[in-house]
Amino acid sequence: MALPTPQADTTAIVTGASSGIGAEIARELARRGHGLTLVARREDRLKALADELAQAHSVRAEVIAADLTDAGSRGELPAQLAARSLTPDILVNNAGFTTMGAVQKADRAAELAMVRTNVEAVVDLCTLFVPGMVQRRRGAVLNTASTAAFQPLPGQAGYGASKAFVLSYGRALGAELRGTGVSVTTLCPGPVETGFAETAGMTDEEAGETLPRFMWIPVGDVARAAVEGLAAGRAVVIPGTANRIGAGLGHLAPKALLLPLMVKSHPRLKTDPTT
Ligand SMILES: NC(=O)c1ccc[n+]([C@@H]2O[C@H](COP(=O)([O-])OP(=O)(O)OC[C@H]3O[C@@H](n4cnc5c(N)ncnc54)[C@H](OP(=O)(O)O)[C@@H]3O)[C@@H](O)[C@H]2O)c1
Repeated sequence: MALPTPQADTTAIVTGASSGIGAEIARELARRGHGLTLVARREDRLKALADELAQAHSVRAEVIAADLTDAGSRGELPAQLAARSLTPDILVNNAGFTTMGAVQKADRAAELAMVRTNVEAVVDLCTLFVPGMVQRRRGAVLNTASTAAFQPLPGQAGYGASKAFVLSYGRALGAELRGTGVSVTTLCPGPVETGFAETAGMTDEEAGETLPRFMWIPVGDVARAAVEGLAAGRAVVIPGTANRIGAGLGHLAPKALLLPLMVKSHPRLKTDPTT
């Protein structure tokens, strides 16, 4: 088992726990007896989840409201855990979002915030917390990428690239850590109904158009597959057979053929990508 045994003073940090996949991963870990440190910006939602987990599973659930685009806030996390006498033995880097549309029309601040959240925060939190896990010879890291990691994604170019980064980084880190007692799992979900589409400003119609209905997996199933994969020490978890096939095809397909088709079918590009 790659999942450390929960102890009174150990905690699982889950970023992006105020909604969607992160909240469900927190529930799944709590069900297995792990104490939680819930991180996101919306403190009220984190507090409600912490109360729910403490009541339902008798685990210690802490809340840290933080904007993960901010390097200063990220840098304070180890001291905030130490002040609560907590040792992080699980790190779930799950917070993330996508911008939508052609790069030529992109909002600079939104693009940078996406890269800071999806990429910089993952690297930073691994850099902050993995050394302690290695020293203690006990730890598990779960990073949320996406099936978008397996091929470029016109219409969400920065998002696709950010998730390719997370997948590559996690695989390399996992290889480095072999034999140290610390495992790394990269979760690559296909489409999941969460707050993701709304945050991206997608209409329901656009969300439905991104990928066919049979590829959508319920959020609880995604979280269960993620935590089971983490417990089994798997390097990559892609929930759902159709998504595993889609990821394989996306990876192998000649990009010169695939990308023009993707431009044509993306809801924000298919009308005219140059306007
Ligand atoms: N849903 C999908 O179809 C899908 C598919 C593949 C991969 N994913 C990935 O799954 C992960 C979770 O997304 P989701 O689907 O669960 O969407 P979601 O419901 O919108 O949740 C996103 C989470 O990220 C947090 N977050 C965003 N920006 C943040 C920031 N600057 N600082 C701290 N926390 C921040 C949000 O919390 P606050 O707003 O409270 O800060 C929220 O808890 C993301 O990495 C996403 O890319 C989603």
